Amino acid sequence: MDVIAVVAVAFWSMLPAYVPNNVAVLAGGGPPIDGGRTLGGRRLLGDGKTWRGTIAGVAGGATLALALDAGAPAVRDLSGIDAVPEFPLAIVVALPLGAMLGDILASFIKRRIDRERGAAVPGLDQLDFVVGALAFAAAADSGWFTETFTVPILVVVLVITPILHLGTNYVAYLLGLKDVPW
Ligand code: CTP
Ligand code: MG
Repeated sequence: MDVIAVVAVAFWSMLPAYVPNNVAVLAGGGPPIDGGRTLGGRRLLGDGKTWRGTIAGVAGGATLALALDAGAPAVRDLSGIDAVPEFPLAIVVALPLGAMLGDILASFIKRRIDRERGAAVPGLDQLDFVVGALAFAAAADSGWFTETFTVPILVVVLVITPILHLGTNYVAYLLGLKDVPW
């Protein structure tokens, strides 16, 4: 595969894990998951992790995965990139669910190290959902995972994801959807 094909397949394969964060920003609000509970005087997760945002994020990512599945054969034909994958049902759920839970785990860690909601922790903020999505996908269907996320694809995912994440968050900040640009 040439570089463009690797980047295209990496982006396609991760889209169901990328979109949940953005959907959560748009849909977030309402009761926080931790219900205001604290641990050692600090919030368990904080007000930035809500039921509404999480459920909408997973639903949005799964819906997108199904839409990509519907389009995959045509895209393979038109682009000639045979490696454009289809998402089995377990993966349709695992990618967005893993992404949201990875992000929630990162908030748990951030509160434990005394970072307020919205505080930036470089690295953790950009990769939490990637690690969560990949771990859940590997657990849900290891055969599909190893076939799809080859080493070159994984390398590209780790390079493009932080760039895309910083870019979309900056746009969300400019649009007034997020309070901070990260
Ligand atoms: N959001 C949500 N539920 C989630 C994830 C995100 O409702 N599971 C919404 C919240 O409105 C949140 C916004 O999306 O403020 C941005 O998400 P994120 O940057 O992950 O949260 P932060 O507010 O930065 O909080 P934290 O410091 O815990 O990451
Ligand atoms: Mg944040």
